[in-house]
Amino acid sequence: MKFRKIGVLTSGGDSPAMNATIKAVTCSALSRGVEVVGILGGYSGLIHENLRPLTKKDVSGIISLGGTIIYSDRCVEFKTEEGMQRAIEVCRKNQIDGIVAIGGDGTFRGATDLSIRGIPCIGLPGTIDNDITATDYTIGYDTAMNTVVKLGDQLRDTCESHARCNIIEVMGRNAGYIAIESGLALNAIGVAIEEIPFDKELLFEKMKASRAAGQRSFIVVVAEGMGAEFSEQLLKEIPEKTGIETRFVRPAHIVRGGIPTLRDRNLATMMGDKAVDMLLAGKSDLVICSRHDKVVATDIKFALILDRMYKNKLKEHDLDSFTPHQIKEMEAICEERRAYFKDIYDVMLTVGC
Ligand code: F6P
Repeated sequence: MKFRKIGVLTSGGDSPAMNATIKAVTCSALSRGVEVVGILGGYSGLIHENLRPLTKKDVSGIISLGGTIIYSDRCVEFKTEEGMQRAIEVCRKNQIDGIVAIGGDGTFRGATDLSIRGIPCIGLPGTIDNDITATDYTIGYDTAMNTVVKLGDQLRDTCESHARCNIIEVMGRNAGYIAIESGLALNAIGVAIEEIPFDKELLFEKMKASRAAGQRSFIVVVAEGMGAEFSEQLLKEIPEKTGIETRFVRPAHIVRGGIPTLRDRNLATMMGDKAVDMLLAGKSDLVICSRHDKVVATDIKFALILDRMYKNKLKEHDLDSFTPHQIKEMEAICEERRAYFKDIYDVMLTVGC
């Protein structure tokens, strides 16, 4: 059967370079004689048949745009069997032979549900959080980190003038990737993330010693996953324990927007093209990942269970359908991730000031 049309959707929290991904999927498919339709507003757009044909002209200028021209949503209705059946009907009626779903783990669960019911789906990891364990990088993460670094540099300027400390609380849901990487790049004196126990006393001691040695400004990065109370408490405690005047900033959704970096655009482009490759080769239920700088396709079930393993949330029969070799592979990836955090944290502790 000739592949007629690919549907593309973005779902969950948006991320920079989602548009670059849509562009790549559209141009890759059209170049191979396959039509493309944008599904507006994620899975709810599919259920409500909110579709927009995409041409090369529609996407030629969007590689540098933040947000998503086909909009995003978190759709509760899609989790019901009725919603799912409606989505399938819409696919059949509109001759959508396969879907590229861009988003995070919730998006992939939806893609798997559709794949199982006969609509081939390929997931692409689009989230600033970088919290998809199967891929080293998600689309939008690089831009988000660079936005935090830009904001942090600006805070450093004013902290230096006023001899202050500034705490920056950054998004990432329960993952500390944005916090740890941007903290290192900002020369933060401390970074608080869920992945590694945080030693407040050590932070206070380091700050006091640095101030005694003449240091005027300090940056402390806190990951969203630590909870709002943690930052508020730290804001009170730093001046109490160190005598250093302290301010607090939460950039929140600011880091979700903006012009995507080169790295994100190119990752989006490579991954988007690979997703089309896979669909046209008759593949389904895969997520496209970046592993050790190679773009590879991974089984979505493997990716979702790997995530649970990494987050210590495995359920009783989760591993039953995997071979010992696959389980070993999952364990090795989890180990790699944990080592990554530890290595970077140790360097930050040694050289951050
Ligand atoms: O997953 C992306 C993300 O921005 C997280 O970092 C954050 O916890 C969450 O989405 C915020 O969600 P919302 O856009 O619904 O406020």
